[in-house]
Amino acid sequence: MDPLLHPEASTGTTLLTHVLDRERTSLDGSWRAILDPYDTGYVSILGTRNDRGYFRDFSPRSPSDRVEYDFDTSLELEVPGDWNTQHPELHFYEGTVWYRRHVDVTGGALERGRTFLNVGAANHTTRVFLDGEELATHVGGFGPFAVEVTGKLGPGRHSLVLQVNNRREPERIPAMRTDWWNFGGITRSVDLVHVPETFLRDAWITMTPDGRLVGGATVDGDSAATVTVEIPDAGVTATVVDGRVEVAADEAAGLERWRPGAPRHHTVRWTCGSDVLVDEVGFRTIETSGNRILVNGEETYLRGISLHAEGPTGGRRAHGPDDASTLLDWAGELGCNFVRLAHYQHDEHMVREADRRGLLVWAELPVYWGIAFANDTVLANALDQTDELVVRDRGYAGVILWSVANETLPGPDRTAFLTALVGRARELDPTRLTTAALLTLPSGDTHIHVDDPLGAVVDVLAVNQYYGWYYGSVAELPELSYTTEFGKPIVFSELGAGSKAGRHGDPAEVWTEEHQAAVYGAQIAMIRRQPDCVGMSPWILKDFRTPMRALPGIQDGYNRKGLVSEEGERKLAFDVLRSYYDELS
Ligand code: GCU
Repeated sequence: MDPLLHPEASTGTTLLTHVLDRERTSLDGSWRAILDPYDTGYVSILGTRNDRGYFRDFSPRSPSDRVEYDFDTSLELEVPGDWNTQHPELHFYEGTVWYRRHVDVTGGALERGRTFLNVGAANHTTRVFLDGEELATHVGGFGPFAVEVTGKLGPGRHSLVLQVNNRREPERIPAMRTDWWNFGGITRSVDLVHVPETFLRDAWITMTPDGRLVGGATVDGDSAATVTVEIPDAGVTATVVDGRVEVAADEAAGLERWRPGAPRHHTVRWTCGSDVLVDEVGFRTIETSGNRILVNGEETYLRGISLHAEGPTGGRRAHGPDDASTLLDWAGELGCNFVRLAHYQHDEHMVREADRRGLLVWAELPVYWGIAFANDTVLANALDQTDELVVRDRGYAGVILWSVANETLPGPDRTAFLTALVGRARELDPTRLTTAALLTLPSGDTHIHVDDPLGAVVDVLAVNQYYGWYYGSVAELPELSYTTEFGKPIVFSELGAGSKAGRHGDPAEVWTEEHQAAVYGAQIAMIRRQPDCVGMSPWILKDFRTPMRALPGIQDGYNRKGLVSEEGERKLAFDVLRSYYDELS
């Protein structure tokens, strides 16, 4: 593939954690934008890089100047935010959009230390330019990335340009088809992050099943700098050695545990020269024991719900603390202690807010359906996205599961690919559990034996099944039995049915709220009887946009399996699930 049009790997980027805790200059707000479906702004008609491209941010200086673009008189787009829901003509747009904003510098924060441009996420492939200089490329639509701009932002006005392309491609993660809207754009916040000359690019600490603390820190700058970590109210102090830190269980014994629903946090202070990072961290253990999941050594049933990163209303990409709070309020009303943040890395505010509320979290990579599993470049990008997922969020106690895939068809290339991702996640974080949502289709009888070879690799078997909707009958549902040959816990990571909010009728009538509620009732009756089942995250909290759902008057471009409509209306099935969770609480 032409690297000018299809960059295959990120270059020039780095990964900063604790961005929300650092001194920042927000670049959120209104940016100018130019649609570029033919990549005119980057590639000349000769197929070479267009060195006078849009990233030069030229304006005509005289009537004889021929410049065939002008940011100052072009479209405006809000950042953060998907472009699809900001202008009707961009509803289905898949291609390149050039974003530009001015950065006016008057000295101060930019004269000392170092400065990084941090992008919370941009879907899908982004190039970064500053004053016409190409600085970096990022490939991936849901993970954070940073670009150092130290020394490039002297006093005066600067032109910051991001080229964002959301074109779907077969050799991409995700690839050509997803049952969610391909929201393009700078979908999360953009900041200038100000740090000392030598600083901690990353720092994390968490508890192992045997009560030790493990973690690490990455120094950027003077690699000889000493890094210490303190937990003052537990009398813990430790030094990072070769990027790693460990505290013996007896020294950590004074830590009060983070518990689902009772999220105790301790102040953790990292010091590296003049760089001091202060964090509020929960400490809990997470492990499996046979077919059980234990949190702090106690068997824990996951009363969950799945969510897409869509705002509470408006059918738009979710971002920021307010969307996170509202969506998690709804999960709380359901009686959840667990949320599956499907099918990709969500905004950090979502993970942070879940952690603060004592919610357990399933975090996931967008390795979804048909992926080019035999392609090493695709694997390399999937590993990069694994780094972004795990490194950004491994400091949040609420996160207990790293999911490496959703409904990928078994095969040697796929299992090798996913095994590599599981290995990377465990390398970056040996304390959490790994999983992948498996496509389990009807077996022709009421016993489904889960034997996907990936079951030998992951810690928890996650089963997506839609009895009573895509196949099977509501009547036969309660008779089903699920077993696995791996002796591991099973989570029903998806189940459900669709309904249009406000459509009522006989429970046998598809698309009525009554039918959806009947499927939930039968599913719950079945799940009660599954000895290996340790939880569920029904599909899905809220109706969400997708190009795959075309039934006029019912779907209208929305997947209707939500327990809440895209405008926040509760459906009958919401109360069916809530009653079950109340019973389990
Ligand atoms: C699949 C898939 C979801 C999809 C859902 C559905 O299992 O994992 O992304 O939206 O089922 O069909 O509604």
